Amino acid sequence: MVKVAPSILSADFAKLGAEVEDIRLGGADYVHFDVMDGRFVPNISIGIPVLRSLRRATDLFIDAHLMILEPIRYAEAFCKAGADLVNVHVEADSEENILAALDAVRALGKKCGITLKPGTPAEAVLPYIEKADLILVMTVEPGFGGQSFMHDMLPKIAAVRGYIDRYHPGCELEVDGGIDAETSALVKEAGANVLVAGSAVFKAADRAAAIRDIRNA
Ligand code: DX5
Ligand code: ZN
Repeated sequence: MVKVAPSILSADFAKLGAEVEDIRLGGADYVHFDVMDGRFVPNISIGIPVLRSLRRATDLFIDAHLMILEPIRYAEAFCKAGADLVNVHVEADSEENILAALDAVRALGKKCGITLKPGTPAEAVLPYIEKADLILVMTVEPGFGGQSFMHDMLPKIAAVRGYIDRYHPGCELEVDGGIDAETSALVKEAGANVLVAGSAVFKAADRAAAIRDIRNA
């Protein structure tokens, strides 16, 4: 069964609790929480105090996508603030420090994930795949919502699916960027099972219908 993870980057932050309750009632499986530091990506979004408040407002599974340099510095803090899964970019530090970040998350009983930017090849997952609960393949350049889906990521999604089936069948395969009712069919076909969607859900007049259409496309 495919999971849908609306990204609150496209929500109204002035009423975040109500926005997240709306997608929970609309059938969302996860809530995707985008953290940007203005260094790893050219934008700044939200961080630990907002996560702590959101944790008090919802029981939905929170999938934190850390677009920050040296995520080991903050991995524990995001776990303690209430993330259920902490996702770090493989480009954000050395292999040794990324592995240490995954260990730090697991030691606190939370799930851990790794993320690949569009320019990073599928084989970059190999040092981490046995430790990761989820692999996120970006289908836009990270930093902004509302961009167009990069169709040339489809072979990479299929290649990561191949590695997961071979080395860690329980691992989830998430995609993020430009996912809507049309592109969702393509990424599912390529092997993704967790679909992040920001603008396609939060800008829709009927969010429950948008979530359903992305899931069932
Ligand atoms: C981009 C973020 C995404 C973003 C997706 O850096 O990681 O999660 O919110 O937005 P859409 O679905 O609008 O492309
Ligand atoms: Zn994201």
